[in-house]
Amino acid sequence: IEYPLILINFKAYAEASGKKGLQLAKVAEKLSKEYGVTIAVAPQLTDLMFIAQQVDIPVFSQHVDDVSPGSHTGHVTLEAVKDAGAIGTMVNHSERRVRADQIDVVVKRARQLNLVTVVCTNTPEVTAAMAALGPDMVAIEPPELIGTGIPVSKAKPEVVTSSVDLVKKINPNVKVLCGAGITTGDDVAAALRLGTVGVLLASGVVKAKDWEKAILDLIRPILK
Ligand code: G3P
Repeated sequence: IEYPLILINFKAYAEASGKKGLQLAKVAEKLSKEYGVTIAVAPQLTDLMFIAQQVDIPVFSQHVDDVSPGSHTGHVTLEAVKDAGAIGTMVNHSERRVRADQIDVVVKRARQLNLVTVVCTNTPEVTAAMAALGPDMVAIEPPELIGTGIPVSKAKPEVVTSSVDLVKKINPNVKVLCGAGITTGDDVAAALRLGTVGVLLASGVVKAKDWEKAILDLIRPILK
């Protein structure tokens, strides 16, 4: 994966479900190709394969369980998301918390399977703890700013910088993203200035009336 990275999480939004999810992924693909920037998408699990088969940009799962393939009704395995065409997975989102020991299993198994992991965190301290597990990325998202349009990179820059500093000390190989309230190119520029390699966002794009306009504005500071 090339940085900077804009990762768009479709969450469970109706606006990005099924065929609409594919349309959004296509818009992301088009702009990614046109402007040479890395835009990845995390569709709803039910749409993962359908979307991954039809776009040529990185596709992530929003969640996986810490189980191996087998007798685990209702669970999602790393192997299954890999088969579906995902290059990696998010894990431990504020809206989908996972126990630390389970995150550890997911990160280790993902590495064996060559899948990229993005562990979401809520505070600098949790970010540091998760960096110790050695995922590819951590994404610091203060839960109270999620979905508000108030960007973490501007409202809580100290949360981002202290996360970046702690990760550097604990495991400098781990890249840091930030998220919550990111909607504009200025927010992305601020996130990069604070030492992150990109952003994780949802509502700023998914709920925008014009997806193309919203993504174009976001990538403005990273155009090549
Ligand atoms: O995973 C991204 C997320 O939790 C941030 O949501 O809507 O504030 O961009 P949003």
